[in-house]
Amino acid sequence: MSKNIALITGVTGQDGSYLSEFLLAKGYEVHGIIRRSSVDFRERIAHLEGTPNFHLHYADMGDSMSLVKLVGKVQPTEIYNLAAQSHVQVSFDAPEFTADVDAVGVLRILEAVRTNHLEKTCKIYQASTSELYGKVEEVPQNEKTPFHPYSPYAVAKLYGYWIIKEYREAYDMFCCSGILFNHESERRGETFVTRKITLAAARIAQGKQDCLYLGNLDSLRDWGYAKDYVECMWLILQHDKPEDFVIATGVQHTVREFATLAFHYAGIDLRWEGEGVNEKGIISNISNPSNASNLKVGDVVVAVSEAFYRPTDVVNLWGDPTKAKNELGWNPQTTSFEQLVQIMVKHDMEKVAADHVASVMRTNLAEYLEKGIVK
Ligand code: NAP
Ligand code: GDD
Repeated sequence: MSKNIALITGVTGQDGSYLSEFLLAKGYEVHGIIRRSSVDFRERIAHLEGTPNFHLHYADMGDSMSLVKLVGKVQPTEIYNLAAQSHVQVSFDAPEFTADVDAVGVLRILEAVRTNHLEKTCKIYQASTSELYGKVEEVPQNEKTPFHPYSPYAVAKLYGYWIIKEYREAYDMFCCSGILFNHESERRGETFVTRKITLAAARIAQGKQDCLYLGNLDSLRDWGYAKDYVECMWLILQHDKPEDFVIATGVQHTVREFATLAFHYAGIDLRWEGEGVNEKGIISNISNPSNASNLKVGDVVVAVSEAFYRPTDVVNLWGDPTKAKNELGWNPQTTSFEQLVQIMVKHDMEKVAADHVASVMRTNLAEYLEKGIVK
């Protein structure tokens, strides 16, 4: 039997780290692309380094030659193209870079496969996105819903979606898009709204932060657990024909609901007062007081800042995962919304507590060194 060899772009990201674990457990040889950085951002995959079937290589989505050489060297049977400038708000500040990586980068991967004559043996998964629906034209959204991208990020990802479809039809390649709705985890980047909330709830509960500033609290998202979603990426490539799939839970919540639940799991109940930029999240009950915090009922712990409003915002994402359920046998309800928020808050409560202990130890050590107590 021929060996399964996966090449993952974006291996250091949230999804790349879970997908690596998933494929290694299935016996794959896994190769990941990393890029040079002045500080080490490999913490999500640090635990996998040294695993015999796990290999990292330097390359960049903006560098065609590096991709052509790497695909030729690795000879992958499956490529998972997860690399992207993935932050929607940042795409308004860096639209050209976003287009280069998220749009032309997909083309570079496809051409790297063709240049190495692997188009009949290498399947390609493209990390497409619910942001394609943008200024939504219907709810819930499925594979037939029209696209209306509403940010430089979404416009770049739309090119990725269409070039994948074009190469599938023009060259008979097995390449597919997973149209994934938002998926989160304890490994989520800290500036995405869910992680920003769970970290702030943990810090506020432990007296390390006073207030959390957010943008549009009414925005609706269909939030799932990233660990469940990487299974779908794999299932899409194991399907008997190359097709695109919507991956979502089928359940929608507002940013306000996410924040209310996250603070609740951190031991703080909130009530909301005011509207728009004047809305506030106010403590109505404290169920788990920390010695480190001086919190009291009536304190404002969430406020709105216009700095987090976007020039155009996508406000009504709600996915219909029926096709993935019926054709891939995937269960969209493996982890509920409540479980997801609980997992993230539990993780961040422990992280904030551990960061505090580490900082006290560093301060003590500095003092002991200064006093000559330790050498
Ligand atoms: P993420 O945590 O932001 O990870 C992005 C990855 O892309 C990182 O490994 C990053 O490397 C890499 N990357 C960025 N620019 C690169 C370049 N020029 N060359 C090589 N690598 C580069 O994103 P994620 O949440 O795991 O999402 C994975 C993919 O799914 C992305 O394409 C995203 O757009 C898409 N997606 C995500 C969601 C979601 O809710 N998470 C939903 C739909 C679609 P560094 O670590 O070096 O920065
Ligand atoms: N980031 C952020 N920060 N978003 C906020 C904030 C805030 O302080 N306050 C409100 N929001 C709103 C945003 O305006 C948006 O409507 C919603 O919360 C979700 O924002 P993000 O968590 O940044 O995610 P996203 O939906 O824009 O993009 C993510 O999901 C896409 C799939 O739909 C990213 O992972 C994309 O890469 C992915 O394609």
